[in-house]
Amino acid sequence: MTITLSVIKADIGGYVGHSESHPDVLAKADENLAKAKGEGLLIDYHVTKCGDDLQLIMTHQQAEDSEKIHKLAWGTFVDCTQVAKKLKLHGAGQDLLSDAFTGTVKGLGPGVAEMEFEERAAETIIIFMADKTSAGAWNMPLYKIFADPFNTIGLVIASNMHSGFTFEVHDVKEHKKITFNAPEEIYDLLVFIGAPSRYMVKAVYHRETGEIAAASSTQRLSLMAGRYVGKDDPVCIVRSQGQFPAVGEVLEPFTLPLLVEGWMRGSHHGPLMPVAIVDSTPTRFDGPPRVTSLGFQLSGGKLVGPRDMFADKSFDNARQQASDIADFLRRHGPFEPHRLPLEEMEYTTMPQVARKLEGRFIDLD
Ligand code: F6R
Ligand code: MG
Ligand code: MG
Repeated sequence: MTITLSVIKADIGGYVGHSESHPDVLAKADENLAKAKGEGLLIDYHVTKCGDDLQLIMTHQQAEDSEKIHKLAWGTFVDCTQVAKKLKLHGAGQDLLSDAFTGTVKGLGPGVAEMEFEERAAETIIIFMADKTSAGAWNMPLYKIFADPFNTIGLVIASNMHSGFTFEVHDVKEHKKITFNAPEEIYDLLVFIGAPSRYMVKAVYHRETGEIAAASSTQRLSLMAGRYVGKDDPVCIVRSQGQFPAVGEVLEPFTLPLLVEGWMRGSHHGPLMPVAIVDSTPTRFDGPPRVTSLGFQLSGGKLVGPRDMFADKSFDNARQQASDIADFLRRHGPFEPHRLPLEEMEYTTMPQVARKLEGRFIDLD
């Protein structure tokens, strides 16, 4: 059975500030998707949140980039924005950059990760969702999952994974893409994905079978809007078990609270803290950045689950480390490298301040 899994998300209003999603907004989204399921457009769905981001997880048979599915997501975000406006939630409708739907949500503000595949006898899926960070946050975890034998022992000792994986990398500034084969091209791959604000892993494929293994959202809000409107807060889908890395290999990279951009005003680096859905409530200095993870088994497209994968106690150390790193970084206040480098600050609110002071600069001798 060919199934498409679509994860489409948007920040359509925060409660309180940018720290959480309001239950009434989630309830409205649930109502809309239940109707679409009743009408047969969706096979199944799950509505959730990561911090102030509303997440629509949907299975269907309309393929990727389906106008019907994107229209459903867009309409749901618009309806939820009405709820957010009524409650006067903060930044109601902030990620909806257009007044009109144009056939796809791509380029209109929401983030999208989609993949179509033939459902296996047991189809294990892990969905990652992040808040207060940008789309490149998945680069290091995806590299570790699919190319690093110190993370994924299956690459070494499982015959169905030994041939490696192909990485599709997008240059989001030049709108170009390139593919790299791991393991033999990992040095070339790392030249690019080690710079995650520009180069992002869009998808990963199994080398031998060509099957899709992972797909991420690479939409960068600031590049779409031409100004700072909020962070991308990306999502990523990973297939697991069998010819793909095991659940434990997929989750393992998040034991490192890696430094990502997007904390406070989208202008600071901070540690990515793995948390249960209920703990995706970034409040300290509007953070630190969070990542959540839901696991499902698919059965004829039905989403059996979710299991909240980071609710596990074995991530307590990572959370403690993230808090310690947060303490350390915060002591740098407005200084780099806590604050983003100048080039990245161009995409935040800084240019307005810089413009105001332009005339006060005088030439050095
Ligand atoms: C970070 C984030 C917040 C806001 C900050 C100011 O990604 O969302 O740190 O940037 O709370 O928010 P506004 O400008 O909406 O008052
Ligand atoms: Mg927000
Ligand atoms: Mg957010």
